[in-house]
Parts: sequence; C-alpha cells; structure tokens
Amino acid sequence: MATYIPELAGSDPNALAVSVMDGGGHLLEAGDRDVRFTMQSISKVISLSLALMELGETEVFSKVGMDPTADPFNSVMRLEMVSSHVPQNPLINAGAIVIDSILPYDDPQRAFFAVREMARRLTGNPEICENEAVYLSEKRTGDRNRSLAYFLKSVGTITADVEAVLDVYFRQCSLEVTVADLAVLSATLSMDGRNPMTGEMVLPRKICRTVRALMATCGLYDGSGAFAMKVGLPAKSGVGGGIIASVPGIMGIAVCGPSLDNQGNSIAGIALLERISDEFGLRVL
Ligand code: DON
Repeated sequence: MATYIPELAGSDPNALAVSVMDGGGHLLEAGDRDVRFTMQSISKVISLSLALMELGETEVFSKVGMDPTADPFNSVMRLEMVSSHVPQNPLINAGAIVIDSILPYDDPQRAFFAVREMARRLTGNPEICENEAVYLSEKRTGDRNRSLAYFLKSVGTITADVEAVLDVYFRQCSLEVTVADLAVLSATLSMDGRNPMTGEMVLPRKICRTVRALMATCGLYDGSGAFAMKVGLPAKSGVGGGIIASVPGIMGIAVCGPSLDNQGNSIAGIALLERISDEFGLRVL
C-alpha cells in the first residue's frame, strides 16, 4: 500500500471491487463495492478538466507539457533538466500541482470547492467529500510534493503561494469515493462529457478527447506503455488503489485494489482490467 501517506497504510490489501457504467446509465458492480477509498491521482483528471474549461487549451498547455515520461509519478529529476522548467504532463504530481496553481479563483478554498464541484458533477454524486484524516496525513508528510512545488516556484513556473496550492492538491487527492462513483466519472469521459446517470452535459467533447488522450499516454506514469499493451484503454490510476478506464462511446470502468506495484498502480486492478478488456474485446489502443 501507499504507506508514504501513513493513513493509507490501514487499507485492506485484499479488497477488490469493480464497477461498470454504460452509455445508457446502467450500472454493474461486483466485489467489495462498499469499500470507500480516496481518489488520489485520479483527481488529476478532474482538476485538469476544470482548468481546460476555465482557461482553455492554449493557456493550460503553456504551463504543462503533453508528453509521457518514463519517470515515477513524483520524480524531481527532469524539472531541472528541461530548460523551460515546465512539467512534462498534467498527470504527474508536478504537472497536477502546476494545474492547481493556475486555477482562476480568488483563494485556495474556492479553488478546492470548484474541483470538488466538478468531481460531484462528473460522478453524479453530490455528496463526494474529502477524507479529512487522509488529507491531514498527506499534508503532514507530503515533503516530496512540497519539494516539487518549491522548486517550481523558485524557477517561476508557479507564482502562487506554495502552501496554498498544495492544500488544494492534498484536499483533492483525499476526495473519497466508491468504485460506482468512479465508473460514472469514467463513463462521463467516455460519453464525451455527458453524464449517463444524470444526463447532464458536464464537459465539452473536445476536453474529453484531450483528457482521454493524456490518460492513454500518461495515465499510469512509467507503467503507461505496459498498461496500453495489456489493457489497451485510456486510464488513470491513484495510490488509493483505484483505476478508471474509458471505453470511448461505450462505457466507463472503475476498479479498486489497494495493493500497488512499483509504479504505484493497483496490481489486482490492472489484472482485472486486462481480463475484462480481453473477454469483452474492449481494447481501443
Ligand atoms: O501526491 C501524491 O503522492 C498522492 N496524493 C497521489 C499520487 C498518486 O496517486 C499516484 N498514482 N498512482
């Protein structure tokens, strides 16, 4: 488990759950479907969608790149090596922290509320909330993210107050969900922005395409290539054990299993997605 966030050490390593929502809003669930877990990096898809809505593609991609890395999700190395000091993509930690730093709100609390509101609309669950214990646990121990953010501030990539930006980031990572919530979120991305459960048009089609393309290339970090070969779907993982996978135009899938591989991706989650993708011929990559 992701024991570098002490509060996550208590998750059940053997929990396993899966949920699917199709384009008609039909939901399937199996396994430990009541297990609640924190979104962690899956929330990067939400803050990115919000930034694209509020600021547009040109502005967003002047602050972060759009290319995959073969580095771990919290790697510091390349930030100094690249002369622009721009994180390579918005799904690694450095990129997601920069995204939070450019959200156009007066104060960090409003920025977080906007991310949470976007999470609620994408999942169709108005009760999505942060897990306070996980948030505080990461805020207390998140020195790697702190170092990424302070470096980015030192070179001018981040201009906002670092602790305030990190607060938004740690809070969004602690948003708590079930696999069913994430299946709806994933289905909304698959259906080009229309939430199949609520019927609401949450995002424009173009933004969903951009987000899915980044998920396909960068969603599992340095495990993205192997995942594309195994499963063949745009996806995004989180160290809470969740993974969302999108079958464009057809359905959203979400899995959760808290035991992680060396890249921070759910071991059982990947295995389950591979079986589902193979058995139903879902791969698009
Ligand atoms: O910033 C962190 O390290 C965590 N809050 C999120 C990292 C994460 O989920 C990486 N994904 N697999």
